[in-house]
Amino acid sequence: MTELSKSGAAVGEPTDASPAPTAFLEVRDLKVHFPTDDGLVKSVDGLSFALEKGKTLGIVGESGSGKSVTSLGIMGLHTAGQYGKRKAQISGEIWLDGTELLSADPDHVRKLRGRQMAMIFQDPLSALHPYYTIGAQIVEAYRIHHNVDKKTAKRRAVEMLDRVGIPQPDKRIDSYPHEFSGGMRQRAMIAMSLVNNPELLIADEPTTALDVTVQAQILDLIRDLQKEFGSAVIVITHDLGVVAELADDILVMYGGRCVERGPAEDVFYEPRHPYTWGLLGSMPRLDREQQERLVPVKGSPPSLINIPSGCAFNPRCPYADVPKDNVTRTVRPELTEVGSRHWAACHLSAEQRETIWINEIAPKL
Ligand SMILES: Nc1ncnc2c1ncn2[C@@H]1O[C@H](COP(=O)(O)OP(=O)(O)OP(=O)(O)O)[C@@H](O)[C@H]1O
Ligand code: SF4
Ligand SMILES: [Mg+2]
Repeated sequence: MTELSKSGAAVGEPTDASPAPTAFLEVRDLKVHFPTDDGLVKSVDGLSFALEKGKTLGIVGESGSGKSVTSLGIMGLHTAGQYGKRKAQISGEIWLDGTELLSADPDHVRKLRGRQMAMIFQDPLSALHPYYTIGAQIVEAYRIHHNVDKKTAKRRAVEMLDRVGIPQPDKRIDSYPHEFSGGMRQRAMIAMSLVNNPELLIADEPTTALDVTVQAQILDLIRDLQKEFGSAVIVITHDLGVVAELADDILVMYGGRCVERGPAEDVFYEPRHPYTWGLLGSMPRLDREQQERLVPVKGSPPSLINIPSGCAFNPRCPYADVPKDNVTRTVRPELTEVGSRHWAACHLSAEQRETIWINEIAPKL
């Protein structure tokens, strides 16, 4: 994630002129809304960020905050079957290597998918076809974009399975998805995602269903492969700890919007938004007693149909009454710079934040 020198979109406000982007991936004021019988679900509601090649952006937020919808939107898959049949309303701009994807020919976007950009899905079973062998699926993914014979493609598939740490890849290539363990399936899907050396890789909760050891292996793998291929990577998770080490930058989502973003170190060690404080407080810590550690953010995520007025976090925020004149309930806070390349959307003044952080939050972490 980089500062957007030309458009200024990094401060959350894309300009009308929409000048050409400077970053490899630039998302400007992305909105993905779903019309439903109950009303319009504003799953993503004005998200802007940029990402360079060779860098990793971590997107963090609770369940339902819009992380997967964001990634499906970037991949041009927001209307995909897994999210229902009603047509999503999508607006904003998604620039990938100089091409604006939302206004591009869908055939062109389809060609980019798999070749220039690829996604590791939250649920590997939804991305792998049960009736075809793992090998056949990787071969197919490769041959769509490369004019090679099956033998050459199979060699490439074996090489990829080997690369992601599947033992005896020349034998396992003929296995079906259900014959693999969860961790192996996740690896196979990573192999399939990376077979065409994508320049943009989106990994949506790549480790949630896995045990801690396999989680660490998968994250190492993504890191190694990124170094090797120099790709831009987005890692999506609800676990701030996962991205603290892996990501260069972190973007915290709440109710379909960004509430904080900046360099991973700053967001992790000096967060400036009460919601990020809550996420940090709820992180499992190995050095604490069980009852001391898991303090979830109190309350439930907001309705995306009736988003609370003012700051969407106000019904759950312990500091909602600190800023004057009930402003947290009436005025939506915009992202403002709180440090170098570090933004937060909160009405607390710099002094108020500092005092709360030093006296109440930091000592408990
Ligand atoms: N097709 C759709 N129609 C209506 N609502 C939808 C649709 N797709 C997604 N949503 C809603 O959008 C919101 C954001 O969903 P999303 O899958 O992006 O959440 P998430 O942050 O990825 O959560 P999780 O951590 O559980 O994966 C959810 O409330 C979801 O129910
Ligand atoms: S704007 Fe108010 S309610 Fe929202 S996070 Fe800041 S202090 Fe809490
Ligand atoms: Mg998700």
